[in-house]
Amino acid sequence: MQRTLILFKPDAVQRRLTGQLLSRLETKGLKIVGLKMLRVTPELSRQHYAEHVSKPFYPLLEEFITAGPVVALVAEGPKAVSVVRTMMGPTNGADAPPGTIRGDFGVSRQMNLMHGSDSPEAAAKEIAVYFKPEELLEYTSSLSAWVCASDEGK
Ligand code: RTP
Ligand code: MG
Repeated sequence: MQRTLILFKPDAVQRRLTGQLLSRLETKGLKIVGLKMLRVTPELSRQHYAEHVSKPFYPLLEEFITAGPVVALVAEGPKAVSVVRTMMGPTNGADAPPGTIRGDFGVSRQMNLMHGSDSPEAAAKEIAVYFKPEELLEYTSSLSAWVCASDEGK
């Protein structure tokens, strides 16, 4: 069982797509174990996008990600990291195929609605940045038995 950090970016919140995006994650069978709204500060942006800080596009990226509230979630499930990346699709909505979130909801490289951790290692770091341990809920969902076989975890 794996966990991944997801952000609904400011464009998704402003466009009132939070419910639709959350619904897609739930319908897929992922279990939400943490959920909150927050405003990304410039400092948090530099931490989150550390690998991009020195790139020419970073100032615009920071301006965008700090421009309004985001929804932060931790989702749990088998291969959650790659499952969410596949659901999001490629970075640029204009290239993302229909059926993916970025493909269905946007045409932009920057305003691409959603962030998902790109590796289990990144997920562990990002979850620790956005959530305190006590903000992550351990619980059993009665639906779990109908989402995965017992040898796939609950
Ligand atoms: P994210 O980290 O936001 O989930 O997106 P990603 O993995 O698909 O893309 P990544 O390569 O990590 O880039 C992070 C964000 O930076 C912006 N970007 N702009 N102008 C450019 O060439 C460029 N490249 C990336 C995008 O907003 C992307 O989501
Ligand atoms: Mg990325």
